[in-house]
Amino acid sequence: MQKKVPLYSGWPILNNVIPFLKDLLYYPQKIQKKCGDIFQLPLSLFSPIFVFSPSGIRHVLEKNHKNYKKGSTYDALKISLGKGLLTNEGESWKASRKAIQPYFFDDVITRFVDIMMRHSDVLVKEWSKKTEPFAINRPMKTLTLSIASEAFFGVHLKDISIDIPKIVDELNRLTITETRFPRNFIPYVIPTFNHLRMRYLMSQLNTQIDSLSKSSDLDNYNLLALLLNTPSFSKQQIRDEIITFLVAGYETTANAMFFTIMLLAKHTKIQGDIRDEVLAQPLDPSSYKEWKHTYPLLYASIQESMRLYPPAWLIGREALEDDTIDGCHIPKGSDILLDVFLIHRHPDYWEDPETFDPTRFLTPLKEKMSYLPFGGGPRVCVGQHFAMLEMVTALHHILSTFSLETDCVDIKLDPLVTLTPKSDGFISLKMKD
Ligand code: HEM
Repeated sequence: MQKKVPLYSGWPILNNVIPFLKDLLYYPQKIQKKCGDIFQLPLSLFSPIFVFSPSGIRHVLEKNHKNYKKGSTYDALKISLGKGLLTNEGESWKASRKAIQPYFFDDVITRFVDIMMRHSDVLVKEWSKKTEPFAINRPMKTLTLSIASEAFFGVHLKDISIDIPKIVDELNRLTITETRFPRNFIPYVIPTFNHLRMRYLMSQLNTQIDSLSKSSDLDNYNLLALLLNTPSFSKQQIRDEIITFLVAGYETTANAMFFTIMLLAKHTKIQGDIRDEVLAQPLDPSSYKEWKHTYPLLYASIQESMRLYPPAWLIGREALEDDTIDGCHIPKGSDILLDVFLIHRHPDYWEDPETFDPTRFLTPLKEKMSYLPFGGGPRVCVGQHFAMLEMVTALHHILSTFSLETDCVDIKLDPLVTLTPKSDGFISLKMKD
């Protein structure tokens, strides 16, 4: 016998809008404590069902994934990403994923480790000149963007004439306001200030991608050349895929690295243990497949940082047909939200969930689906190995050269499309003895 999903209606008309907007990150946790692992949280005209149980998450992302499309939570992203891999659906998504995925397979990804090593070297050299505490948000973005420029386009960052971090950051902010009431009901064709600004920013990215496409060396090994060499990809599709890779790939990794460095600068004992680990084993690009075992604590600290601060903090889906999750009836058209930020803090699966403790990742997890920084099922992040290699390479370089400290007591968060630090983080460095 199917149950109804418990409903937490809140106030009349506005329902939970005000408390939710005031505390986007933690408000659903308060309701979960009252209603359990599945509940509906009406937010005026949008009434998503939150699913916290590993069985429910597995059902949506894996077992019955065919019944779920990305849904309305991704509509605003479609404005800028079009039919790129992240927002595409159905057969068109399947064909793109099949064409692009081999690019991120193990033996191919090895070509990128050299790029990651080179740019990490540059970062360490620049940081060696620092004498005062400095902000790390921008350097993290420059690092991941420099790596992305070479791996995705085969060009050096200095050959890109526009300020991509600034544009992507503004698009990120505009996109999130588009998902909120009442803007989510204004079609994109209506020239509001937001829409015109988004079009302008998109046109800058498009022009840049067009000029890169024209000058791209098709024999060179990079994502753009691969797409240009695939006859089934139209010009528009190539544009959408490239923008998707920029938006999905560079800022998420920069933020994950920002949070990891801040956490390690705060937790100097753990930082010291990782330093011993990395000094004992210099980075060998040819054995990158073994890095997880060569540097267990470094790897675990990245995993733990993404548990506390998952850059992709919310995953949304829409039910194509009626379904049942954890015995509850899910009507066709329901919006499902997997609140990664809070799933990573679920007290049934995480002891002392607010504490930074990388050692929890040194043994197998109690429940695999309680940890999903890269999502899960067929739509799992295609760049997850790329991102992990990038972070291990950069952090190995940084930690084997410097010890890090910070005065920052509390990392404040801005839950935009990606989970972003609200203010910059300052660290001070000492060359290791
Ligand atoms: C720490 C860094 C990263 C995080 C936390 C992250 C997280 C995620 C998550 C959670 C998804 C699934 C979204 C969903 O199911 O709705 C996803 C998808 C995706 N990610 Fe990542 N990502 C990261 C880095 C990257 C990188 C480096 C790239 C590119 C090289 C990339 C490209 C993509 C693409 C194209 C998709 C869509 C895949 C599909 O639907 O087929 N990501 N990412």
